[in-house]
Amino acid sequence: MNAQAHYDNHLAAFYAWMSGNFDTKQQEQQAYFTNKHIAPGGNGVALDLGAGHGLQTVSLANLGFSVFAVDFNQHLLSELNARAKGLPVRTILANLANTGQYGMDAELIVCMGDTLTHLESVEQVNTLIGEWYRMLTPKGKLVLSFRDLTQPLEQEERFVPVRAEDERIHTCFLEYFPGYVSVYDILLEKQQGQWIQKVSSYRKLRLGIEQVKMMLTAAGFMVQDHEVIMRMHYLVAAKPGA
Ligand SMILES: C[S@@+](CC[C@H](N)C(=O)[O-])C[C@H]1O[C@@H](n2cnc3c(N)ncnc32)[C@H](O)[C@@H]1O
Repeated sequence: MNAQAHYDNHLAAFYAWMSGNFDTKQQEQQAYFTNKHIAPGGNGVALDLGAGHGLQTVSLANLGFSVFAVDFNQHLLSELNARAKGLPVRTILANLANTGQYGMDAELIVCMGDTLTHLESVEQVNTLIGEWYRMLTPKGKLVLSFRDLTQPLEQEERFVPVRAEDERIHTCFLEYFPGYVSVYDILLEKQQGQWIQKVSSYRKLRLGIEQVKMMLTAAGFMVQDHEVIMRMHYLVAAKPGA
């Protein structure tokens, strides 16, 4: 199944539950931006690519940006709209591959929470980094966060418990192939006293951190910051000023 079908038919319905407490996670993202001095200083426009239910969008809007939140899943964008009531946020239902559907001058572009690995190929990631560079205004910034899946988990390590409650259990199973990982989201739900299992899978790219840094540099960016938080690589890259 491709990533969009996986979200539309399976993951989007329980993504917010799986992610845990929204306010806690959102405050962590906001604290990250504050620590890295991410604040409006130009046209005030931020693009949140693969916005999901809004952890980064709400954070950036709280920090004073006008945020355009792009995602291909309507369910998650509806949840985001409910979270972002009263904030300067617009949603755009689009595939990140189609930059023409969300192209604009922005001083900040973020693609976070492992969205980058959902893209179809390394070549597509490379092309998009170049197109995002061109969308950014001089001195604009690109912030990425993703998991480096180049080192495979082995044997039983590949069964990752995500969340478990009385009526719902979510586990991920990872199967490694050259260049990509098949991610199986296994959901067990108790319905009228019976456990029902639903399984769906999609591919994640095995992007290496050094590989992504090289793509950024080749596109013209200066990589300003790299930090690993909870096994997720966070990068801040800047477009040189005019
Ligand atoms: C792992 S979630 C991250 C969401 C959010 N940034 C966060 O940190 O919680 C990935 C998101 O990207 C979206 N997505 C993945 N590939 C996409 C694509 N090609 N175009 C648009 N949205 C995409 C999914 O629908 C999902 O909301």
